[in-house]
Amino acid sequence: MTTDTTTFAAPRPAAPGEPVLEARGVTMRFGGLTAVRGVDLTVHASEIVGLIGPNGAGKTTFFNCLTGLYVPTEGEVRYKGAVLPPKSFKVTAAGIARTFQNIRLFANMTVLENVLVGRHTRTKEGFWSAVLRGPGFHRAEAASRARAMELLDFVGLAAKADHLARNLPYGEQRKLEIARALASEPGLLLLDEPTAGMNPQETRATEELVFAIRDMGIAVLVIEHDMRFIFNLCDRVAVLVQGEKLIEGDSATVQGDERVVAAYLGEPFEGAPGAEEAAEVREAEAHAEATAGQAPAEPTRDAVPGKETDR
Ligand SMILES: Nc1ncnc2c1ncn2[C@@H]1O[C@H](COP(=O)(O)OP(=O)(O)OP(=O)(O)O)[C@@H](O)[C@H]1O
Ligand SMILES: [Mg+2]
Repeated sequence: MTTDTTTFAAPRPAAPGEPVLEARGVTMRFGGLTAVRGVDLTVHASEIVGLIGPNGAGKTTFFNCLTGLYVPTEGEVRYKGAVLPPKSFKVTAAGIARTFQNIRLFANMTVLENVLVGRHTRTKEGFWSAVLRGPGFHRAEAASRARAMELLDFVGLAAKADHLARNLPYGEQRKLEIARALASEPGLLLLDEPTAGMNPQETRATEELVFAIRDMGIAVLVIEHDMRFIFNLCDRVAVLVQGEKLIEGDSATVQGDERVVAAYLGEPFEGAPGAEEAAEVREAEAHAEATAGQAPAEPTRDAVPGKETDR
């Protein structure tokens, strides 16, 4: 029997420039749909890397492959050199934390409790310690609460520690998700659209927050549709289009790439990933239009699979 209450140390910090994340040839298929195709991406210590691309490009799916929510159909993901286990909680324990595009908070728990939940991979109460609630348990609990309050202060939510999460405005819920992710003491933080639904002031504040997180020694990989945010923030940006990485480079290189401009404007261009399929769809649509009226109309579109809800 043990009454030990242990606080696990956070993983060792990576040396500047050392790769923290190495994704190689990551492919994710859902039946006939290839959502992510052969994507390579490296994030180094102290880097902020952006991942952009049109809706449905596979960005969130790629995050899900990095965090053990999905097991990639092909490819490999390493964190600080070690292949990641295909289980979310093990990935978190290894040192990767994330926020979700669709906010996932415990709505009926307080702000502080939500952050405490995020700490569970770094604390372990021995069974009897938890049952008996001895001094070791209370010491560890107090340390966790202190750290959680520090993180709430860091994101600007300390004054709302006792509020129910569901009563926070949308922008603050996103900040709370970041605090909860930081509570697992990660070496790499993945942010999926952290400024979605925020006003310009909140977006600016989030920019500063991400810089501060990087300055704490945490590498950041961020998905965002707000290009100003991305290009202000990121050392490097990778562009996904129809599941494939189109280009990766610094902000100037990516912004100046006409294929990226075309992909965002929705104009297909020669040689773009998936251009052939797009051309086939257009041809089929043109044919359907030309023959309209000759036969009862069939619903030809709606080929886009329903969006996954659990992400
Ligand atoms: N669990 C799933 N089952 C089937 N198809 C899926 C699943 N998850 C995602 N997809 C499909 O994979 C493609 C990529 O979706 P994903 O959500 O990764 O795109 P995204 O780049 O994050 O888009 P957005 O910018 O709109 O968030 C889409 O066609 C989507 O419908
Ligand atoms: Mg997404």
